[in-house]
Amino acid sequence: MTVPPKTATPSTAASPAAVATHLPLSATLEADVMTIAGCSVAELVDRFGSPLQIVDVTDIDARAHGYLEALAALDRPARAVFATKAFPIIAVVARLGRLGIGADVTTAGELALARRAKIAPDRILYHGNARSEDELREAAEQGVGLVVIDGPQDVDHLDAVATRPVDVLVRITPGIAPATHESMATAHHGQKFGVTIAEAPAVFRAIDAAPSLRLRGIHVHVGSQITALEPFVDAITRVGALGSFEVLDAGGGLGVPQHPAMAAPATAHYIHALDDAMRTAGFDPATELIVEPGRSLVARAVVTVYRVRTVKTSAGRTFVAVDGGTSDDVEAVSGLRAASPFALTSGVTSPVTLVGLHCDSGDVLARDVAFGVVAPGSLVVMPGTGAYTFSLANNYNCATRPSVVAVEAGEARVLVRRETVDELFARQVIDPGSD
Ligand SMILES: Cc1ncc(COP(=O)(O)O)c(C=O)c1O
Repeated sequence: MTVPPKTATPSTAASPAAVATHLPLSATLEADVMTIAGCSVAELVDRFGSPLQIVDVTDIDARAHGYLEALAALDRPARAVFATKAFPIIAVVARLGRLGIGADVTTAGELALARRAKIAPDRILYHGNARSEDELREAAEQGVGLVVIDGPQDVDHLDAVATRPVDVLVRITPGIAPATHESMATAHHGQKFGVTIAEAPAVFRAIDAAPSLRLRGIHVHVGSQITALEPFVDAITRVGALGSFEVLDAGGGLGVPQHPAMAAPATAHYIHALDDAMRTAGFDPATELIVEPGRSLVARAVVTVYRVRTVKTSAGRTFVAVDGGTSDDVEAVSGLRAASPFALTSGVTSPVTLVGLHCDSGDVLARDVAFGVVAPGSLVVMPGTGAYTFSLANNYNCATRPSVVAVEAGEARVLVRRETVDELFARQVIDPGSD
């Protein structure tokens, strides 16, 4: 398996107070005992096995309310749709839906996820730079609220298959330099998404000429894990040059603290900054603001818990190997997230390299992380794994993907059960005569 090149991962020694900003809101951590929503992490692992993803669902509720309240406080229409790619779990999408948050989808699979979560079609927003004819047809047939046009061909393709009028936005690439990891920056020129400000008017004209399409507005998405407000403001200022529209979709991308030294803007400040930027850029007071949060809604609500399998010192370095790795946390091993794991142990700390079980020397979850004494069987907690961890999990080395368990008011319930070895081979067609 190929993973993106590794970049420096700022790993940090974690103490109870230091990790608090990126632990789930209902977590407690005293020495080597951790609870989430009143459930003992150690008992959860004994019961459900490891690796285990534990979801503090009231943390997600609190983040959702943060968005809903900030949006309701604006003088313009405003709403949020959850970027389902961040944590595509039906129960989570449904819970957000009941709170009033719609769904942003990119494939037929994510559309099915949103529908199974009972998100009404008009609260679904459909992205994609390479949707199939079937996907576009289905979007139209299901009455998806907004389809985002990524380029001139989308206009022709969607208009050709639309069986009813479809409201569309055009994705604009405003030409903003990456303010995050290169793989997560999506608003600079020379990457695959959207059309430039100069190219946009031709696409608007094509939409106006397409009998089935109605241009409702524009979309811009700066990237992911953006921890400063300037890129968001800059993007809105730039796309304001195109004039005002019924809808401005400002995308997602608000970052979260991933280790104690990292700060991120509060949701209310972020929403306020978007609204301010819209006013300054000349958008009409009646222009609806849509935001598409993923990471900032779910990242901090989830931890992954591993069990240590082996501890080895070689060439002066101590390697602590756990029962997961590349197969369940691609963001950590590829340096896309500043991983800050800690062990549920006490005692004098010393730096270790936290590795997984996979056959690849890039299978490193964190370097130079300060752990107390750990031994086979010790528990290691990886905080902040609610976004792009479940969705990027894979079967490298035929690993079975972990369970996801929700905890709330002292109770635990399985949202996704652990994959079985039989499921690993369920799609393989075994022809008895061919071997
Ligand atoms: C178009 C679009 N909207 C929203 C998001 C969600 O971003 P984030 O999870 O950083 O909030 C993404 C993911 O990068 C995206 O591509």
